[in-house]
Amino acid sequence: MNSQPHIGLMLGTARDGRMSESVFTYIHEKLEARDDVHVTAYDVRNFSVDKTIYHTDNNPLTQAWRDAVQTIDAFIIVTPEYNHSYPGELKLWIDQAAIAAYAYKPIMVAGVSIGDFGGIRVVEQFTTLISNFKMMQAGALYFPKVGEFSNMSAEEKDTHYADRVSNSIDTMVLCHKHLSSLRAELS
Ligand SMILES: Cc1cc2nc3c(=O)[nH]c(=O)nc-3n(C[C@H](O)[C@H](O)[C@H](O)COP(=O)(O)O)c2cc1C
Repeated sequence: MNSQPHIGLMLGTARDGRMSESVFTYIHEKLEARDDVHVTAYDVRNFSVDKTIYHTDNNPLTQAWRDAVQTIDAFIIVTPEYNHSYPGELKLWIDQAAIAAYAYKPIMVAGVSIGDFGGIRVVEQFTTLISNFKMMQAGALYFPKVGEFSNMSAEEKDTHYADRVSNSIDTMVLCHKHLSSLRAELS
């Protein structure tokens, strides 16, 4: 059993001009600076498909994600809120792999918005999916006013977010520690 989790950090929008990328980059830097996790950054643009492709189709277009999910112990999804929900391309991406490949793994959603709410509604939208997948929601992060965030210095970003991100990752690591035993027992 590997005690150091492999965290899959996912960016869920392919939109031209996406500002969520600045949040994705920030969290990626924080993960890379730690010595108790290893991280791979995944961009939906590299997994984008134009229709639902179910995992049982064994379609070569979705092979890369199906393989990746098997190696990921915990997920952080950076997603903007679009019309109170998540981007369609993110759902098409998640649906490429079997539920069983996600099950009993921690997940945290980092909501992003241009306004004051930081994607609270998109984070809530995920709860039914997380429940259905038998995943564990290891907290959530909220990034309001992403336009301002993008223009902040590294120090300003840290003033507002470093502790929150760090505490959330600590929680994920703890959840992984216990869930990996459960997964081993169930396999
Ligand atoms: C199709 C669409 C729908 C949106 N719906 C919402 C919304 O429901 N709530 C919200 O706070 N922002 C909404 N926004 C604005 C996003 O908060 C804004 O685009 C922000 O920059 C984060 O998304 P980005 O990564 O695409 O830039 C929407 C944007 C788009 C493109």
